[in-house]
Amino acid sequence: MELVKLTIDGKETEVEKGTTILQAAKTVGIDIPTLCFFELKDMHIENRPGSCRICVVEVQGRRNLAPACTTRADNGMVVKTHSIRVLNARRTVLELILSDHPAECLTCPKAGNCELQKLAEQLGVREIPYQGAQSTYRKDTSPAIIRNVDKCIMCRRCEMMCNDVQTVGALSAVNRGFMAVVAPAFEMNLEKSPCTYCGQCVSVCPTGALTEVDHSRNVINVLADPEKTVVIQTAPAVRAALGEEFGLEPGTLVTGKMVAALKRLGFDYVFDTDFAADLTIMEEGSELLDRLTRYLKGDKSVRLPILTSCCPGWVNFFEHQFPELRDIPSTAKSPQQMFGPVAKEYFAKKLGIDRKNMIVVSVMPCVAKKYECQREEFKMNGDPDVNYSITTRELAHLIKQSNIDFMALPDEEFDAPLGESTGASVIFGTTGGVIEAACRTAYEVYTGKKLDKVDFNQLRGFENIRHATIDFDGLPINIGIAHGLGNARKLLEDIKEGRNHFHAIEIMACPGGCIGGGGQPYHHGDSEILKKRAAALYREDANKPIRKSHENPFIIELYKEFLGKPLGEKSHQLLHTHYFDKSASVFIEE
Ligand code: FES
Repeated sequence: MELVKLTIDGKETEVEKGTTILQAAKTVGIDIPTLCFFELKDMHIENRPGSCRICVVEVQGRRNLAPACTTRADNGMVVKTHSIRVLNARRTVLELILSDHPAECLTCPKAGNCELQKLAEQLGVREIPYQGAQSTYRKDTSPAIIRNVDKCIMCRRCEMMCNDVQTVGALSAVNRGFMAVVAPAFEMNLEKSPCTYCGQCVSVCPTGALTEVDHSRNVINVLADPEKTVVIQTAPAVRAALGEEFGLEPGTLVTGKMVAALKRLGFDYVFDTDFAADLTIMEEGSELLDRLTRYLKGDKSVRLPILTSCCPGWVNFFEHQFPELRDIPSTAKSPQQMFGPVAKEYFAKKLGIDRKNMIVVSVMPCVAKKYECQREEFKMNGDPDVNYSITTRELAHLIKQSNIDFMALPDEEFDAPLGESTGASVIFGTTGGVIEAACRTAYEVYTGKKLDKVDFNQLRGFENIRHATIDFDGLPINIGIAHGLGNARKLLEDIKEGRNHFHAIEIMACPGGCIGGGGQPYHHGDSEILKKRAAALYREDANKPIRKSHENPFIIELYKEFLGKPLGEKSHQLLHTHYFDKSASVFIEE
């Protein structure tokens, strides 16, 4: 490894050749502001177009200022990162960016989280000396994401996420000069593009140009309606991140406080999507075993590997991009969508209320869930199984708006029966968690033996694509895992070409899985935050008295009392779905 020595703000440092000045400065504790630059270390995600020039520094001997995010450190370099010349240049760059930025900071959904706003404060920009022409692009509202292009600063982080990381290809720069925008092809609406609504563009957008559709207003309205029984379900990854919105360390579990807050907000029943995740394992695990045993008996009609189907961004992806493979994902609905019919067809009946008077709300780390709950096949006579889906961020806003002192809340318990869950369901929130949960149940059902150890550490981690073989008492089960849709694409291409021999594959659309979902508190490129959230879920799993889905007594009761058996008639009717070929449905104007 070749090293280079340089001096930054009077501090000497030695870094590997090829390191940028931005990275080298970090080694001596110097932060250089950035805007277009974005990275998620460990996941090989990086945006470095060098276009915004906010990160400029002075390099001795060079006439022009150099962008720190793209300039490589070199032997003997002397760098000044905060000289008067540098500060003035950064301020001018920012003033120019702000000259055509809408002054809507008071009402912008990104207020408080806007990187542009933070930079203006950091650089002391108090007025904008330039009068630029204002962009007046139409607002594009899809079922899950809103594009407000007037707030776009052309950093192109969203384009990098959409094309390079997720390989979705919904967003790219079109037009030139002042007319340049990041948009779907032919400047069509997002809804007419192959967008999966994974929300990763929202996660990395530094301004309010890309935001989620707000369902929190609808939730407030139904909470105020005395005719409605309002039930809420909370996804596993939410509890590992919500605390960040209240100043807690990433990875602090706030399960009990979250439940208490939801009760204070006025929900009639606070339930857990984890319960439905246990149910998902019962159905998906049974489907895996069913396909596997038929395959082992030589049934040529069976297609393996089975692909997990919990993630709506992933479902949208294969419906658009790999429709020919749509018969291999599990037909099990996602936990969110399993919860809906159980609440409205089982729990509502137990309470003696009409399903139309029950409103099911979900809190999700995900933006695509907003779209998922609006899908026609998840409605009964026009009534959605899940009415509204709010993100972790929207829940935090609701708590703040209601003046609830989150930190002072006691820990409270979920309501029964749809709030009871096992450790297996909690880890659904991180990459590798769904397949680990499935293995815990499938192993015991297939072999008839008890697992000595329920932790499958070989399935954990953050490598983009992982594989492991699990020994089902002499039968090797080959498992594949991918997080991020670009990685999923690689596995799907292999399946298409017959290059892999997995029995089961878990796919989550977002880097890191749901802990890194598009609806989570903004991580601003800090991959350590994602690791801490994952560790929190594994901690909650380890502390649960029951850690296998098939041992959840309330799930056992639900099958006995209502569903019958996994993959039975009622389960098929309520808990399974089918997929569509959406490859032809994009870029067509109606
Ligand atoms: Fe370096 Fe934009 S952050 S040029």
